[in-house]
Amino acid sequence: MFFKELETDRLFLKNISLHDREFILEQFSNNEVNRYLFDAEPIADILGADEIINFYIQSEPRAQHRWILVRKSDGTKIGTCGFHCWNKSKGFCDIGYDLYPDYWGKGYMVEALKAICAFARNDMKVRDINACIFIENDKSIMLAEKLGFTFNGQIKDEIFRDEKYPHKILTLNCTI
Ligand SMILES: CC(C)(COP(=O)(O)OP(=O)(O)OC[C@H]1O[C@@H](n2cnc3c(N)ncnc32)[C@H](O)[C@@H]1OP(=O)(O)O)[C@@H](O)C(=O)NCCC(=O)NCCS
Repeated sequence: MFFKELETDRLFLKNISLHDREFILEQFSNNEVNRYLFDAEPIADILGADEIINFYIQSEPRAQHRWILVRKSDGTKIGTCGFHCWNKSKGFCDIGYDLYPDYWGKGYMVEALKAICAFARNDMKVRDINACIFIENDKSIMLAEKLGFTFNGQIKDEIFRDEKYPHKILTLNCTI
């Protein structure tokens, strides 16, 4: 298995599986989590959760992976993070992440992303990791900047529900 489970001081980063369907439903039906996510509608039922999970557990090699953040102290699932659109030959991928709101403001995501960005650098051998972030998603922009992502000047409009939503592209150069 190429995508392995990871560990940080406070978290297990467990590979997503169908055992996570209840958590994924809770997470991606939550209005606060979905507020700035303009790539898919909030999910409404367990089939929506299965669809997300099945995307991330397709057999390897695959261009995407997702970890579940599990708090070591009590085993609680608190969020997810991972990669998609991994272009192996060109050496880049996109990053995605989300925490259940009860766990915001405690530094869990920065801890998880440090670990998966190290995995991208050392195991996936990517040169660039891109984060596509809605311009008003201040928390996500601050988090990415904390990790060394920089705005590369590119604003990309995502079309969602027939509206344009401008997103900044921030990039982490893994060769530096
Ligand atoms: C984006 C998102 C993950 C950011 O969550 P977050 O809680 O701000 O990020 P972290 O877990 O890294 O926590 C950082 C905060 O914890 C604080 N903190 C507390 N204890 C800490 C510790 N031990 N170590 C580091 N930071 C700590 C930091 O100061 C920071 O607070 P601040 O934002 O007031 O400066 C969250 O807002 C979210 O899930 N949003 C919905 C989904 C989403 O929009 N995803 C991104 C799409 S592009």
